[in-house]
Amino acid sequence: MRLAFLGPPGAGKGTQARDLSREWGVPHLATGDMLREALAARTALGLEAKRFMDQGALVPDEVIIGLMRERLAKPDAAKGFIVDGFPRTIAQAEALARLLKDAGQALDAVIFFDVSEEELLRRLTGRRVCRQCQTTYHLVSAPPQKPGVCDRCGGELYQREDDRAETVRRRLEVFARQTAPLLDYYRQRNLLTTVAGEGPIDSIRQAIRRAAGTAR
Ligand code: AP5
Ligand code: MG
Ligand code: ZN
Repeated sequence: MRLAFLGPPGAGKGTQARDLSREWGVPHLATGDMLREALAARTALGLEAKRFMDQGALVPDEVIIGLMRERLAKPDAAKGFIVDGFPRTIAQAEALARLLKDAGQALDAVIFFDVSEEELLRRLTGRRVCRQCQTTYHLVSAPPQKPGVCDRCGGELYQREDDRAETVRRRLEVFARQTAPLLDYYRQRNLLTTVAGEGPIDSIRQAIRRAAGTAR
């Protein structure tokens, strides 16, 4: 199972990938999470990426491709993965295809999460994330049992720096300009499946299972 989750900021990629990767026993490879972990560890990569992330811009392709090349080479990715937030440009998509081809592999499907802009704004401004395990909550639609505390690990919940209203607008523009061209790219390669990304989290998860051909 080699899947890519594609969609605008706030579409629910991370929410669904986290649960499905557990269910399917494959790693969840999220470039955004990897960059935030690098930043929390104060590595050179993390500090460089922060300049772009805080502005809602994309981190340069070479940096991201290098990061994913290393990650995909780890043994746990050999029997499958869900990539979340990658690829985000045509150059990244081509690099991914090459990396997989060199390993005798290929993507099985790309799942596009279709969500209206109004709903994206609502989700991003109410999002809270666990500092320790990166589990995602929403103040209204998915609140933690105890305010400010992660149900799963007891970690502290915080608001992402790039979830401020101006940065969110910028991220949506960047998606439209730099990432949306991937829809045609994958459609032409017969890899794209669109899933309606609004409604209960469980129903969307079931639609993804169906799209991935694993529904029972
Ligand atoms: P990244 O971390 O990937 O952010 P993103 O793509 O902008 O997407 P999000 O994580 O914001 O949204 P999501 O789809 O995961 O939604 P979630 O499940 O959390 O990237 C951040 C930055 O890193 C980029 O801007 C860039 O700078 C850099 N970067 C990362 N990858 C890169 C790459 N490949 N190339 C270059 N730069 C890169 O859900 C959102 C909220 O909605 C949550 O509160 C959740 O609880 C709620 N929610 C989820 N599902 C539902 C539902 N069905 N109903 C109601 N609420 C829901
Ligand atoms: Mg995410
Ligand atoms: Zn946690």
